[in-house]
Order: sequence, then C-alpha cells, then structure tokens
Amino acid sequence: MKELTISLGERSYPVRIGHGAAGSFPAVFREQFGDRGCALVTNSTLAELYAAQLAHWQQELGFVRHVIPDGEQYKTVGTWAGVLDAFLQARVERSAIVIAFGGGVVGDITGFAASALLRGVEFIQVPTTLLAMVDSSVGGKTGVNHAMGKNLIGAFHQPRLVWVDTAYLQTLPRREFVSGYAELFKTAFIGGRAMFDFVRDNHAALFEPVRAVLAEGIELSVRIKAQVVEEDEREEGRRALLNFGHTFAHAFEVFYGYDAIMHGEAVLWGMACACELGRRIGSVPAAAWPAYESLLGMLPLPALPDREIDTARIYDAMFSDKKTRGGKLRFVVPAEPGESVVRGDIAAEDVRACLAQTLARTHTV
Ligand SMILES: NC(=O)c1ccc[n+]([C@@H]2O[C@H](COP(=O)([O-])OP(=O)(O)OC[C@H]3O[C@@H](n4cnc5c(N)ncnc54)[C@H](O)[C@@H]3O)[C@@H](O)[C@H]2O)c1
Repeated sequence: MKELTISLGERSYPVRIGHGAAGSFPAVFREQFGDRGCALVTNSTLAELYAAQLAHWQQELGFVRHVIPDGEQYKTVGTWAGVLDAFLQARVERSAIVIAFGGGVVGDITGFAASALLRGVEFIQVPTTLLAMVDSSVGGKTGVNHAMGKNLIGAFHQPRLVWVDTAYLQTLPRREFVSGYAELFKTAFIGGRAMFDFVRDNHAALFEPVRAVLAEGIELSVRIKAQVVEEDEREEGRRALLNFGHTFAHAFEVFYGYDAIMHGEAVLWGMACACELGRRIGSVPAAAWPAYESLLGMLPLPALPDREIDTARIYDAMFSDKKTRGGKLRFVVPAEPGESVVRGDIAAEDVRACLAQTLARTHTV
C-alpha cells in the first residue's frame, strides 16, 4: 500500500492507499496499535456485503461490533447515542481504537462517537465509498444532522489511520460512485495547475474507472485535501476552498429536496455554476476561459429533478447554509486554472443570472 501523511503535529496520521488489502488490515492494526482493544461500527448494508471480511477481522482483532441502519436519515443524535450505549455496555476502554467501516455517514457518526466516548478515544477510518475516500475520511470533521440542518452537531476529531482500499468500490452502486467523483473532480479547481490538467487529461479513465488511474486520482485528491487541512485544520480560512461549488449545491439540495438529488450530483451542478460565475464576474482571466471550457465539457452533469427552475428561490435557499457568515454569502470562484478564491462581494443579480444560464444547459449523464 502507498502511504502518505497528514501532518498535524501530534495529531498527524497516515493514509494508506491500496487495492484488495483487507487481508492485511489486522496485522497492520497490531503493528501500529499493539494489543489495544478495538470496536467497530458499520451499517446494515456493509455488514451483509462484507460479512466474511468482517468475520475475519473480528476473529483476528476480537472487537465489539455495532451495526447502524443504512441511510443519511439515520445520521442523528439517536444513532450516535446508540453507538455510545453499545460501547459503554460492552465496556470498551479508553485505550481502545474505534474503527469506522463505511461511507461518509458511518465515518461521521463513528468519529463523533469516538470524540465523545470516555471523553475521547482514538479511531480509524476505513472508507468504502469514493466520497469517503477522497473527502470525508480525511480532515477530522465528524458529526450528525439536526432537524435544523445537516452536520450541525459534531466535533473536530482526527483519525489515527485512514485505510483506503479501492477494492470496496467494486460493489459501490454507480450513482454513488458518480456522486463521490464530484468531490474528486472538485480538486481540479483548487489543487493547482497540475491537478487541473490531471483531471482534464484523465477524466475518461477516472470515470470508467480504470483502476490504476483512479487510485492515482484518489491519492492526488487526498494530498490536496491534506495540504488544505494542514494549513487550516478548523476551517477558519483556506479550508473554505474545499467548498468549491458547495454554496450552489446546498441551495439545490434544499430546493429539490435531499431525497431527489444526491449531494455529489448537486456539487456537479454547483461546480458548473461556480465556473459560470467566475466567467461572469471576471475572476477567470479571459485567456484562461478556454481551459475551463474544456474541463467543463467533461462534467458528468446528471439530469435535474423535474421541477421548474426558480432562480429566486434557489438563491434564497443559499442563505440557510451554515457556512453563511453574518447573513452574507461567500462563493468560491475559479481564477487561474487550478486556483480558486473566496469572494463575499458578489451581487445577487450575477448569481441569479448565472443560475439561469447554467441550469439551462443540456444534461450529459
Ligand atoms: N466529514 C467530512 O469532512 C465530510 C465531507 C463530505 C461529506 N460528508 C458526509 O458524508 C456523508 C455522505 O457520505 P457517502 O456519500 O459516503 O454516503 P453513505 O455513507 O450514505 O454511503 C452511500 C451508500 O453506499 C453504501 N455503500 C457504502 N460503501 C459501499 C460499498 N463499498 N459497496 C456497496 N455499497 C456501499 C452505503 O451503505 C449507502 O447506502 C454525508 O452525511 C456528508 O455530510 C462528510
């Protein structure tokens, strides 16, 4: 497996990336953590799909296992409390390591449970979706949703190890893959010129996916996320760049409904909007626009839910984003290829015009 390090002083940790490495996980765990106890959280879908692997790990590591129901609707304080109940009843000790085996939902709930259990135990992320591999498993944001909004309750709690095994993607439904791909594609806009070119030149192989190319894309994305997190662990500055396309995406999720559009699908449309906004307000130099056009032509935009586009309502929905500051919207807009900037001074008319123009585009997926 390849190894890279997220450098955060005493909270630093390795990200290991490989393919088909599940058999070696228990030995690596023992190498890094000795004979410390452990506990594992997964969801009902993965518990079934990966029953044999989990049984092997359980036999080798002897952990307590807690299975949560599958779905974003279960990313709640109730499910989180259920994890704590299970581990307290099983007398999990402070020295134990909690393993999150699943996508972003399992990772976020488990990380948050680990942050609170006995005032904080260490945890490992084993991401099984593309989104979790390139995004949610790295960076230490954990939490659950509240009726008032998504991810409103949580903590920063960095894992001790992230174990990325791309073999898990073989069972991932295609729509989930595309949704995760949005976050990988996003790094083209914030990860520097080399990443911009990498995504543009390899989009077909990444999207197909060709295993070796996808593994490289995941590694590069993680490196970029790592750099941003290392500079701004608690999202007080540069980490906002990771929200490229997300102000729009949040509004699409609210406008169309979380059941009708997946987060990554909303992000794909959000990135198209952010680019159009950048062209419109001139943050993208005219000479650079053709490069953007070539990349945008590859964006796998999914069909939007069947609802008449109402740019005023979509614009209003942006204000319910928890990242809004002092009632003002902030947009991450592209500049030179691979570079983006945060802007808080964009006129409502520009945003609405850009929504109208972008959403009128033909769908490509
Ligand atoms: N902490 C962060 O920094 C961060 C960043 C981005 C997103 N998130 C959060 O991540 C969540 C979304 O994560 P997600 O997209 O991974 O969704 P998810 O965890 O709900 O997984 C999507 C679906 O795929 C299934 N699945 C997972 N792995 C599979 C596999 N290998 N084979 C077959 N099926 C599999 C799951 O059971 C689920 O039904 C959201 O709650 C979001 O808020 C967190």
